[in-house]
Amino acid sequence: MRTSHGVAFALSAGFRLATAAPVCGGNNNGTADVLYVTTYPVGEGAGKLLTLQLAGSKLQVVGESDTCGPYPSWLTQDGDVLYCVNEAWGGDHGDLYSLKINSNYTFTKLSEHETVGGPVSTIIYGNDGRGLAVADYAGGGIDTFNIEDPAALELIKSVVYPAPDDGLPDPQNSARPHEAILDPTGEFLVFPDLGADQIRVLKVNKETLEYEEKPSYTDFERGTGPRHGAFFTSGDKTFFYLVGELANVLQGFTVTYNDDDSLTFERFHNSNTHGDDEPLPEGTAAAELWIAPESNFLTLSSRFESSLEFTVANGTTVPSDPLVTFSIDPETGALTHVQSAPAGGINPRHFSFNSDGTRVASALQSDGRVVVFERDPATGKIGKAIAEGDVEGSPNFATFKQ
Ligand SMILES: *[C@@H]1O[C@H](CO)[C@@H](O)[C@H](O)[C@H]1NC(C)=O
Ligand SMILES: *[C@@H]1O[C@H](CO)[C@@H](O)[C@H](O)[C@H]1NC(C)=O
Ligand SMILES: *[C@@H]1O[C@H](CO)[C@@H](O)[C@H](O)[C@H]1NC(C)=O
Repeated sequence: MRTSHGVAFALSAGFRLATAAPVCGGNNNGTADVLYVTTYPVGEGAGKLLTLQLAGSKLQVVGESDTCGPYPSWLTQDGDVLYCVNEAWGGDHGDLYSLKINSNYTFTKLSEHETVGGPVSTIIYGNDGRGLAVADYAGGGIDTFNIEDPAALELIKSVVYPAPDDGLPDPQNSARPHEAILDPTGEFLVFPDLGADQIRVLKVNKETLEYEEKPSYTDFERGTGPRHGAFFTSGDKTFFYLVGELANVLQGFTVTYNDDDSLTFERFHNSNTHGDDEPLPEGTAAAELWIAPESNFLTLSSRFESSLEFTVANGTTVPSDPLVTFSIDPETGALTHVQSAPAGGINPRHFSFNSDGTRVASALQSDGRVVVFERDPATGKIGKAIAEGDVEGSPNFATFKQ
C-alpha cells in the first residue's frame, strides 16, 4: 500500500473492524456447526479425517480425507492449520502432519514428520505457539517439534522412556504417555503415563522450546493407569484432575510451583469415575476429561459401562455410556457430582466442548456415531441431543471448528 505508515495502519485496522463480524461469523454458533472427526479403521478399511456439518438434526459428512494416514487420532487446531497424528498401529513409528484447512472441506498437507510410535495427543506450547509436544502411547515416549513454519515441521527431540521393570503385562509393560498437557503458566508440560503410573513433568524454555525433565509424580497405586487430565486455576491456587483408565478413578491434586522449577502434586480427591465408591461394571475404562471453557465444571467420559440409555434419531433406544460432570469448589478444589448424562452410545473415547460451552460433541468409537448435545454453561448440565450422524469406521475424536 503506497501510503505513509500511519495511514496504512489506520486503514488496515479499520478494515479488520469492518469485516471481522461477517467473515468470522461473529458469534461462535457458525463455527460450532462444523466438526473435525478422526476415525480408526474397521476391518480392511482405513481411518479418515472427516468434516461434519450440522444440517437440521443431522451431522452430515461434508469432507472425507486420508491426508492423516490410516490411523488418525488427536487433532490440534491453530488458525487454518490442523495438526493431526497417525498412530500407525503396529508400525515402528507414528507420524505428525500439519494440514492446511481449505474452505471447501479438503485439507492440503503442508509437512509431515515421524514421531515415536503410537502418537495419541498433541499440545502447542512456547512463545507465540511455536512448539508442539506429542505423547506417544505405543512407543512409550514423547516428541517436541518446532512448528514456527507449519510447512516445515522440525523435530526438536524424541525421547523413549525406560519400561517399568516390575513385570506387569501390557499396557503396564512400557511407559505409556497418554496426553500432552500444558500447565496454566505455559512453563510446564505434563504427561499422564498410563504404563508407568506417573505424571511426567517437563520444565520448558518458552523461547528455545527445549525442556528439562523434572521429577515425576509417582505416588499412584500400581495399576491406576493415569490417562487424561486438566489443570484448573482459582485465584493463586492451581489444581489438577485426572482419570486413571485402569482403576477407573478420578483424582484431584493441589499443585505447588517450587523454587527449583519442579512441581509438587498433593492428592486430595480419589474416587471412582462416578464420584463415589460403588463398584463399576466389569470392563469399564475411563477415557477423556475436560474442564468446560471459562467454568468450574469438569466432565469425564467412561467407556464400556452401558449404564444408561440413548434414543437415536430413528427412535430406537440403545445402551449408552456416561459423560459424568462434577462442579469444582474454587476455594478447595473439592468435587461434587452434578450429572451422569448419556454420551450417545458406547465407547466415548473422546468428547469436546464448543468455545462457549453451549455444546458438547461426543465420538462413540464402538457405535460409529457422533452426537452433538446442547449444554447449559450455567449449570454444567448436558441436555438433549441436537444432532447425530453415523460415520464409517470408529470415531475416536471430535472437535468443533474454531
Ligand atoms: C446463531 O445464533 C443466533 C443468535 O443466538 C440464532 O438466532 C441463530 O439461529 C443461530 N444459528 C444457528 C445456525 O444455530
Ligand atoms: C479445494 O481447495 C483446494 C485449495 O484451494 C484446491 O486445491 C482443491 O482443488 C479444491 N478441491 C475441490 C474438490 O474443489
Ligand atoms: C435405528 O438405529 C440403530 C442404531 O444406529 C440401528 O441399530 C437400528 O437398526 C435402526 N433401526 C431401524 C428400524 O432403522
